[in-house]
Amino acid sequence: MTLPALGALACPNCGQGLDQADRRLSCPDGHSFDLAKQGYAPLLAPGSNATTGDTADQVAAREEFLSSGAYDPLLAAVAAASVTDAPGVIIEPGCGTGHYLAAALAKDAGREGIGLDTSKYALRRCAKRVVFEEQGPGDDEPRRAAGTQMRLAAVLADAWNRLPVRDGAAAAVLNVFAPRNADEIARVLHPRGALVVLTPRLDHLRELVDALDLLSVDPAKPQRTADQLSSVFEAERTDEISYSIGLGHEAVRLLVGMGPSARHHGAAELDAAVAALPERVDVTVSATVTRWLKKS
Ligand SMILES: C[S@@+](CC[C@H](N)C(=O)[O-])C[C@H]1O[C@@H](n2cnc3c(N)ncnc32)[C@H](O)[C@@H]1O
Ligand SMILES: [Zn+2]
Repeated sequence: MTLPALGALACPNCGQGLDQADRRLSCPDGHSFDLAKQGYAPLLAPGSNATTGDTADQVAAREEFLSSGAYDPLLAAVAAASVTDAPGVIIEPGCGTGHYLAAALAKDAGREGIGLDTSKYALRRCAKRVVFEEQGPGDDEPRRAAGTQMRLAAVLADAWNRLPVRDGAAAAVLNVFAPRNADEIARVLHPRGALVVLTPRLDHLRELVDALDLLSVDPAKPQRTADQLSSVFEAERTDEISYSIGLGHEAVRLLVGMGPSARHHGAAELDAAVAALPERVDVTVSATVTRWLKKS
């Protein structure tokens, strides 16, 4: 099977286009890359740091938590903001399991997508992801039914390095709770394309941050993000999304397990802290989705 979005991919060594023969991708200079057994394309640029990716446990927790629908209002806002009339693919550096990318592709029947991540566990899941023609919030199972298609390529790549994507090949770039390299995003984005950035607000998950001593959002972060992007982009619109969800202990464990605090808590310590919570906790979900356009 030809890898979706092949025409938008670039050799990580020399930047030229890639061709596919069987399970091997190669550029005109003879650099070649064999697709992993699990279907993703290993296109790490020289000097990349591939140790930054989520662990198997984090990915499993993310998969299960997101498929519960608890973040569907965020999913809907990102997907709506990703629609553009620019030609090209939709890409997501730090795509995780491809949850947001698939929803963006489902909005736009003709599009293909590229999910990039340094976690092989996330990419295994992303490579199998099918896009539902009529995908709506919550409709997130890896089913192969009529009306579904393999429309995205999963790619092992470091978001802090040169992306293996051709100049101007992206109609939209998604950035959802993930690393953000403004110069590379600007390089791959089509002049009429859109960058969709979701960032947590200061009160995101605040009840759990307090009760479980989780990492909190850095108050200086929104300004840093704006400073970083505004040299190349201008904000076209911003949606602030805030709502409350009632979570039981298992959902709390998944939510903590999929995030950065998972690396800082021993399992036993976390279990004890969760057990001390009321059976159902009301948790604030709060994020900003901004659609940025390239400055002309
Ligand atoms: C918090 S998760 C968000 C995943 C996805 N966007 C979502 O919201 O479901 C951050 C993702 O970034 C990936 N990541 C971390 N460092 C990275 C890097 N340098 N390059 C590419 N991906 C990276 C992690 O493996 C993880 O999948
Ligand atoms: Zn090459």
